[in-house]
Amino acid sequence: MAEDISINPTPPAGGHRRRIRYRGKHPRRFEEKYKEQNPDQYPETVAKVLSSGKTPAGSHRSILVAEILDALKPAPGMVAVDCTVGHGGHTVQLLDKVIPGGRLVGLDADPLELPKTEIRLRKMGFGPEVLSLHRCHFAGLQRILAIHDIAGADVLLADLGVSSMQLDDPARGFSMKQAGPLDMRMNPNHGQPVSSLLASIQPHALSALLAENADEPSAQLLGQALAGGHFESTTELIAAIKRACPNLPAEAMQQTIRRVFQALRIAVNDELSALDSLLRILPECLNPGGRAAILTFHSGEDRRVKRSFEDGLRKGFYSAISEVIRPSPEERRSNLRSAPAKLRWAQRSGQTHS
Ligand SMILES: C[S@@+](CC[C@H](N)C(=O)[O-])C[C@H]1O[C@@H](n2cnc3c(N)ncnc32)[C@H](O)[C@@H]1O
Repeated sequence: MAEDISINPTPPAGGHRRRIRYRGKHPRRFEEKYKEQNPDQYPETVAKVLSSGKTPAGSHRSILVAEILDALKPAPGMVAVDCTVGHGGHTVQLLDKVIPGGRLVGLDADPLELPKTEIRLRKMGFGPEVLSLHRCHFAGLQRILAIHDIAGADVLLADLGVSSMQLDDPARGFSMKQAGPLDMRMNPNHGQPVSSLLASIQPHALSALLAENADEPSAQLLGQALAGGHFESTTELIAAIKRACPNLPAEAMQQTIRRVFQALRIAVNDELSALDSLLRILPECLNPGGRAAILTFHSGEDRRVKRSFEDGLRKGFYSAISEVIRPSPEERRSNLRSAPAKLRWAQRSGQTHS
């Protein structure tokens, strides 16, 4: 359910920080990458990371930006909604197009990252008259629109999944590369962490979840091996996956670990039901002629968006829908995390629906 909480930006307390020391030439751990986390002070370090196709720690590189602007056609005076603000990259791009005269309502479920993003966006000069941010699940979008007395959006974006800030911070438990608590919740105050899910789930239910959320070929075997396990950290889970599939070559093992992490993350954040809810309410949240774009990162999400848009077109809720749009080879090369992205858009028809 939506948690409607407006953000009250309070800048973090300033103060001197000790320089972080690390072994070797390059920092490896998130907390050692303090230069990447301070782009204003260390622009050269950030440029180096970007040129290698990686994402600087503590930030997020927005994907398919030009294609999204081309699909949504934001213009001055329009009402924009960003359902997944994250680092605010797409938010800024949309705001730049709808100002003057327009405004943007932004949502994100993450209570840790959204306040940081709000501070950054306010510093860029986007005041409350043009930008309202809510720490809220996007299934609660209709209620947020009602609070602002907005009948419908002219442009709406949902960039699904997790941000690089969430993925890269080991304390959040999303990372398969660094040790951390086995959590993976976008909102750590809501729901259960992955460690609790694994401790209580039945093997057949876990196998079904691994197949549905990540098309995992060893779902059966892994369901048997991992269900009921007590794993406190990401490294304990990885060790258990390796024990369950001892004969997998290194590359295949990495892919298996990645898919298990993805499936569990989707489960604890209820991501597929959240997407279903958004797709159900989407036509009602758009003005006639309004456009929505959804960026997905795996086949389970894309199937749902495709089916819902095609269904909406048949029923007359939408007057036009797109084919799938993928990142260019250049974008995939320059931002490795963009590779699985798929974008689809739909335009609301003039017709009202029940
Ligand atoms: C891929 S990131 C968005 C990045 C953003 N477009 C940018 O350019 O910086 C996805 C964001 O959506 C948020 N999110 C995911 N599912 C959500 C949901 N159901 N409701 C609200 N926010 C959600 C995550 O917390 C994360 O911050």
